[in-house]
Amino acid sequence: MTIDSENDLYHLKMIGRICAQTLKKMMKAVRPGLSTRELDEMGNEYLKSEGARSAPRLTYQFPGTTCLSVAPVIAHGIPNDVKLKAGDLLHIDVSAELDGYFADTGASVPVSSAGADVERLLNATRNALWQAIRAAKAGRQINVIGQAISAEARRRGYNTLRELTSHGVGHSLHDEPLDVVNYYNAADKRFLNDGLVLAIEPFLTSGRGWITEENDGWSLRTSDRAPAAQFEHTLVITKNEPIILTL
Ligand code: CO
Ligand code: CO
Repeated sequence: MTIDSENDLYHLKMIGRICAQTLKKMMKAVRPGLSTRELDEMGNEYLKSEGARSAPRLTYQFPGTTCLSVAPVIAHGIPNDVKLKAGDLLHIDVSAELDGYFADTGASVPVSSAGADVERLLNATRNALWQAIRAAKAGRQINVIGQAISAEARRRGYNTLRELTSHGVGHSLHDEPLDVVNYYNAADKRFLNDGLVLAIEPFLTSGRGWITEENDGWSLRTSDRAPAAQFEHTLVITKNEPIILTL
């Protein structure tokens, strides 16, 4: 969506803050022995206390409040009773709705400690997100986002997951513009406009970059089971610095 009033911005800031707070609380709770179902319940309680609703449940009847994916699953993992172990890499994705406005955020979190390889991958992915945020200005082409992400990935020796994309958000979870790919697509002639609301979410991997759907019909894992990482923020495009709604 594109913001066209102070009212839009007010409501987006509200749901953005709620998603950010939920993610932060869940990240703090991550520890070995906790199941992703227990973690999801914490997220659910917090969203409920703020009057917000799970966007994936609302939009896609997703069987959970948040998407909790343990590597090599990288997206749309269903919360379950398996206990997290030290050394797991968990991806938490929180998207929610309040008063008809949606925001979307996510982060990859190592359980206990990460090895040096995972730490490097996390840093590169976080950096790719910030490079993309820095590049996203009104008047530029949409493909500067994928260009910034893939340049950062290449510089660090990683691939991007080509099938998972950034996207518009606001009036719905996946709003116009759709298919904002995380690599440079010269054929994409669309432009970023002032007030556009975007969820930017780079996915980087040390593997080949292809994904496979698991038999549960939701979970997406890297086809080669290589680790991948994701960081995501919802922001409003302006001529200058974007307004980040999920900080
Ligand atoms: Co998203
Ligand atoms: Co998300």
